[in-house]
Amino acid sequence: MSGEALQSILHPAGPQAARIGDLWWLMLWVCAAVYALVMIALVWGSLRRRSQEELSGISAVVPPAEGSERLLARWVGGATAVSALILLTLLVASVSTSRSLEALAAPRALEIELTGRQWWWQVEYADPTPSRRVMSANEIHIPVGRPVHIRGTARDVIHSFWVPSLHGKKDLIPGHTTDLWLRADRPGVYRGQCAEFCGWQHAHMALLVIAEPTDRFDAWLESQRQPAALPSTPLQQRGRAVFEAQACPLCHTIQGTGASASAGPDLTHLAGRRTLAAGTLPNTLGNLGGWIADPQSVKPGNRMPAVTLPSEDLQALLAYLETLR
Ligand code: CUA
Repeated sequence: MSGEALQSILHPAGPQAARIGDLWWLMLWVCAAVYALVMIALVWGSLRRRSQEELSGISAVVPPAEGSERLLARWVGGATAVSALILLTLLVASVSTSRSLEALAAPRALEIELTGRQWWWQVEYADPTPSRRVMSANEIHIPVGRPVHIRGTARDVIHSFWVPSLHGKKDLIPGHTTDLWLRADRPGVYRGQCAEFCGWQHAHMALLVIAEPTDRFDAWLESQRQPAALPSTPLQQRGRAVFEAQACPLCHTIQGTGASASAGPDLTHLAGRRTLAAGTLPNTLGNLGGWIADPQSVKPGNRMPAVTLPSEDLQALLAYLETLR
């Protein structure tokens, strides 16, 4: 599914990304024009110099005549003034883009707490009632058209949240909260990734922002508030017993079971997510089995230890994890 996700500053899906995109186009065209003019002047200058040399029949440095030196000074002065003016224009455009992004901060936004971790994203939907808070990982669902306030921090090292179709980069810093407001005006799946080198698996730290109509978002959020589905078949029941007997609950939470640790992603609704290991693999049963059996070969250096299980136990565990929608 992540293959269909949009990740492009040139296709903004919300007002913040649109402003940044406009600034990008302005800078591109101004800089392209400056580059073209400089190249034309360079070629013109070298051709003119050669024709002068051919006229005089010598290639040594000839001191310029009095009049041409004055002309040269005027050209250099003019070019300096134009350069300063262009830089000033770009500065003004950049500052005014920042201002207009700040003006898009909305007081009644949906609040999401985002924590960058080595190497995944912890996503928490704030709610005044603690039991209605929702935990997820590596996927942020948002309602289309509603401002979203992302309060970002990091647990270990500095990460950077970047979903190019929705906004620019925002650093996530341990012990500090940064604020970002974004809004998606079109439903869609927008891919983002960590944009600050944060260790070995920095490149495997992606996430998806899924923007959907308000009623679908509300239904999703409500479903996430529910505890994990109860296993209904003997195989699924055995899988849950395997989960609880192994090391899994030392790091993970499954609401409704005894597992309530937060070293790794909350698995209560694992099967509903599109990717595994922060965008590293599509979330299929085969990939999940491979990931549990040998996470270090998929994503070397990550915190998940290999869990060695007899094949029947692994099948049962997968059958159970598949029910966690
Ligand atoms: Cu997290 Cu790079």
